[in-house]
Amino acid sequence: MKKMLKTAAVALVFGGAYVGGMQPVAMAQDSPTVIPELSEIARQGEVAYNVNCVSCHGINLAGTDKGPTFLHRVYVAGHHADMAFILAARRGVRAHHWRFGNMPPQPEISDEDLGAVITYIREIQAANGF
Ligand code: HEC
Repeated sequence: MKKMLKTAAVALVFGGAYVGGMQPVAMAQDSPTVIPELSEIARQGEVAYNVNCVSCHGINLAGTDKGPTFLHRVYVAGHHADMAFILAARRGVRAHHWRFGNMPPQPEISDEDLGAVITYIREIQAANGF
């Protein structure tokens, strides 16, 4: 029983579908997402994100039923460095954190736009305490 409580607490802390938490999806945070004033590069990134990533990772990084939100501690720079975003877009991702399935490679996005997407994601993460 004690162990069960502990597991439930961990699932709550992660607030979503960390595989260890045994929930099917990554939920967006409860509070409304803060959208900061974006830098010029981040605005370029927002456009590229909304073309290449939004269908799965959601508007304002909120996530969808096809992919996780980036407003989650799993995706902060200390855990997923910028290189992880480049590798994800170029090689795709085998499902390992969640249960959305695999992420296919995104060959359409240019290196420059991809760099801008990372800036965009980092600025929104920072504004929301991630
Ligand atoms: C067709 C849906 C889809 C699209 C489009 C998509 N992703 Fe993903 N992405 C996913 C899924 C699903 C995962 C979670 C895989 C897992 O279980 O860890 C993921 C995970 C990631 C990760 C985490 C990788 C890791 O090492 O854990 C990054 C970074 C990422 N996506 C970036 C992007 C970027 C940037 C774009 C746009 C250029 C993009 N994704 C477009 C579905 C998608």
